[in-house]
Amino acid sequence: MATPQKKGTILVTGAGGYVGGQIVREALESGYSVRITARTESSATRTISHYPSYTSLLSYTLVPDMTVLESYAAAFADGAIVGIVHSASPLVFNPQDNVRDLLDPAIKGATTILEAALKYGGGKVKRVVATSSFAAVVDPEKGTRPGHTYDEKDWNPVTWEGAVKAQKVIAYVSSKALAERAMWAWIDAHPDAGITLATICPPWVFGPYVHVPSRAAALSESVQLLNNIIDSPSIPAFDFGGYADSREVAAAHVRALEVPEAAGQRFLVGQDFRYQAAVDAAREELPEARERLPVGKTGDRTPEDAYHVDGSKATRVLGLKYGTLKDTAVETYKQLFELRALEAKA
Ligand SMILES: NC(=O)c1ccc[n+]([C@@H]2O[C@H](COP(=O)([O-])OP(=O)(O)OC[C@H]3O[C@@H](n4cnc5c(N)ncnc54)[C@H](OP(=O)(O)O)[C@@H]3O)[C@@H](O)[C@H]2O)c1
Repeated sequence: MATPQKKGTILVTGAGGYVGGQIVREALESGYSVRITARTESSATRTISHYPSYTSLLSYTLVPDMTVLESYAAAFADGAIVGIVHSASPLVFNPQDNVRDLLDPAIKGATTILEAALKYGGGKVKRVVATSSFAAVVDPEKGTRPGHTYDEKDWNPVTWEGAVKAQKVIAYVSSKALAERAMWAWIDAHPDAGITLATICPPWVFGPYVHVPSRAAALSESVQLLNNIIDSPSIPAFDFGGYADSREVAAAHVRALEVPEAAGQRFLVGQDFRYQAAVDAAREELPEARERLPVGKTGDRTPEDAYHVDGSKATRVLGLKYGTLKDTAVETYKQLFELRALEAKA
């Protein structure tokens, strides 16, 4: 049942995505009305249909191009928006053109939403929370970096030139680093805007979608990584050593909108991660996982001496409580097996 809206209306970009969908749920359950942005009418109505108990608290604005300031005028026209969560950013690991497919939408999209809050927000938008990433924290060139613990003080040092030439996942990682840096630079350059920023930097996000996804092809890249292990002979090697649950990531965003001390802060939200540990946990709990996920080397946490991630600031400042990898892995695989069953029937 929808609770009466008490906290005003927030604007959420990327609401049709995996992480954005959970943010919308968390915001609605926390007492906000939510205005989503979407690129098309059909995607807006599809997204809204995922929250049947909350339709009266949901509205949408079409923003066909999030790098164009004027696209946002309508979103603010009624003066209702009191906060923004900017989650939209291309999450693609196979860009044809790094600038067109990743860097421009990520970076210009990130600063345009801040410009829009200033130009159209009527002074009512005090806090913008952005979905950044561990990608903006990690230094990929340092590899497994034994002995290091990543936290919010760390920054991916990639340059624009490096980002333009980067390949595959590193191109995406670079886009997130430069986008977050651009947002902080904008805040520094606009001290009188009356807008504070907080960024959420999760590593791989796993855990459930708000609804069972309808097509494997449309899964977020991170969920696809766990999906690819189904019926595979082997478990992926270490790539990035951290994860966060989609529900925790959503809670962190909504808390960061509200907690005064979150102003001007970035939050690494996450815990250490190994694929083998996720598979072990799912196999322990789910009969279907025992049939369809490879055994691998049960209990293996290779490499034992890779970096760690420290997500404790989110607990201290935002009051975030972390769950277990077991719960995250189980809830992810339950949905993935359901999706496989739906696709098999279709
Ligand atoms: N999944 C992870 O492991 C992970 C980890 C750290 C950070 N993040 C960040 O979390 C956010 C959401 O990722 P996700 O996992 O939810 O991926 P997703 O399911 O692919 O969602 C991406 C969202 O961004 C929107 N978007 C992408 N490119 C856009 C563009 N050029 N213009 C307007 N909107 C655009 C998409 O809009 P449409 O619905 O219209 O396609 C979609 O709503 C991103 O900022 C991502 O970098 C994700």
